[in-house]
Amino acid sequence: MCGIVGYIGKQDTTKFLLDGLKELEYRGYDSAGIALLNKDKIDVFKALGKLNNLIEKVENSDLGTYEIGIGHTRWATHGKPTELNAHPHLGEYSYVVHNGIIENYKELKEELINAGHKFVSQTDTEVIVHLFENYLNKANEQSQENKVNNTNQAFKDTIERLEGAFSILLISKADPTKIFFFKHGSPLIVARGKEDNEVLFASSDAPLIGLAKEVVYLEDGVGGIASKNGIEFLSDDYSWSTLPTSKQFAQKDGFRFFMEKEIYEQSSVVSDCMLGRIQDEEILFDEIEESILDGIKEIKICACGTSFHAGLTSSYLFERLSKIKCSIEVASEFRYKEPMLTKDTLFIVISQSGETADTLEALKMAKKAGLKTLVICNVDNSSMTRMADFTILTRAGIEKGVASTKAFSTQTAVLWMLSLYFAKINASISFEKLQSELLALREVPKSLIIDDKIHEKTKRLSKRYLHGHGFFFIGRDVFFPLALEGALKLKEISYLHAEGYPAGEMKHGPIALADPELFTIALMPQNLLYDKIKSNVEELSARDSTICTVSPLDFELSDDFIRTQETSHYMLEFFEMLVVLQLLSMEISVRLGNDVDMPRNLAKSVTVE
Ligand code: F6R
Repeated sequence: MCGIVGYIGKQDTTKFLLDGLKELEYRGYDSAGIALLNKDKIDVFKALGKLNNLIEKVENSDLGTYEIGIGHTRWATHGKPTELNAHPHLGEYSYVVHNGIIENYKELKEELINAGHKFVSQTDTEVIVHLFENYLNKANEQSQENKVNNTNQAFKDTIERLEGAFSILLISKADPTKIFFFKHGSPLIVARGKEDNEVLFASSDAPLIGLAKEVVYLEDGVGGIASKNGIEFLSDDYSWSTLPTSKQFAQKDGFRFFMEKEIYEQSSVVSDCMLGRIQDEEILFDEIEESILDGIKEIKICACGTSFHAGLTSSYLFERLSKIKCSIEVASEFRYKEPMLTKDTLFIVISQSGETADTLEALKMAKKAGLKTLVICNVDNSSMTRMADFTILTRAGIEKGVASTKAFSTQTAVLWMLSLYFAKINASISFEKLQSELLALREVPKSLIIDDKIHEKTKRLSKRYLHGHGFFFIGRDVFFPLALEGALKLKEISYLHAEGYPAGEMKHGPIALADPELFTIALMPQNLLYDKIKSNVEELSARDSTICTVSPLDFELSDDFIRTQETSHYMLEFFEMLVVLQLLSMEISVRLGNDVDMPRNLAKSVTVE
């Protein structure tokens, strides 16, 4: 949630901040702001809504030259999206940008108000800057001898008092040559720029690519003080590394939306994800060893949103193929239920970003309980990959569309491969069965290639599915999690009510809703429980629900029909149907005039509870 950037150097500070915020805008776009420091003058610009509003404001202003600046793009947590609540937040002479949540902000605010501080926003963030000034004012009252020391100490004292998750950049007229920074729970990267004496900050690496010479992905509890003379870290727990130099994969490549580009990319990224992992007769993962299953009797999976749906899909595969007991939970529920964790459990978390707060906390709990942990993740060097015992990267490339697409297909591919890898270790699969699964796996990239006719069909159908009182996406077995994913996509970007449901459950209640205004999207694969789901759809059709069937086989009761290809494996049907559902929700969203890449109220990477 939220994105932050910072700059020290002689290049165009404003440009770095605005370009960087553009890269991070997908993380939150309720408001944006920058603070620019020139000697002891600070110019601040804030605007509600998308970044373009801020850019317009900045372009219409008289700008000076600045050698220090900080910026923020916001996804509101505490306090409504208003200009007053936009970052950077001001004390009397300092500004702060913050990503995360200060959990003890209420008590701090009360204390500071009693000490005479005046607050103007409803945010938790504002306490940081007042706390800093409170400590600094006190220190300066006691001694003016070493003001620099007082300022540094005031920052350290401030950090000591904060609870929750936070990455922070703070600038102050009290020492206008510096950016004070700290990371705890939310991501922050500090970099040496390519130009002399340049220091760059960003909450993820996209704004730094091409501009940073080397970077430190800050660990929790690490912070420091940066100036053009260098970076002073407050602890030794850091190391420098380099970044990829190419940004091209972050552009839209002629597609209308990042989401569309990412749907189309799925075939190639899934190929990348399989590269070197499918050998002649088996699956190989360099990242793990067969001993990973030593002493393991059970798998527990934790994830959120789309990643949860990938996990739920895999729970069928781990039991069916690997013959390992497998359970899955939504991370936000898992955390507070006092779960029974035993060391014979392999704990798997799944996350595109590797930063989702609830999933990260679940991982911490599992580690604390001494479980073996594995993360399936798209972002290397993210908090989860640094914490888990083992990491398998999904290699999907940067995912920019807020609605997750290629993350899901690569996660599912990895998890299917993993279930076969475990099946081999457990000797729970025959040689012939393993070979036929590998054969099917190799076909996945092909099943993700988008047929123009299918895309056209979803465009045409989107006209019909704009109204009505709701959607049911139904499927059985792994097509149930796929139905959940289809419904989630539609909700996210079309703002239409949709539910994913196990097809066999409809008659236990929801069928009461059936009428022509209820749209049923029925996933009817040829290779898995076809007759069973057919009966379930017939029941809905008999009660006049409007039926849109996705299937390779004719179904005479369909009001609309999207024909997928005949294949020999249900997982290939799964991937093809996934694309259909992604395209359908995107085209409905387009027809409704919504912002496909930045749907309302959402943000990429949910780093708050
Ligand atoms: C849906 C979506 C979210 C994420 C969820 C978990 O399109 O993007 O539901 O899947 O917030 O995020 P990660 O996978 O980064 O942990």
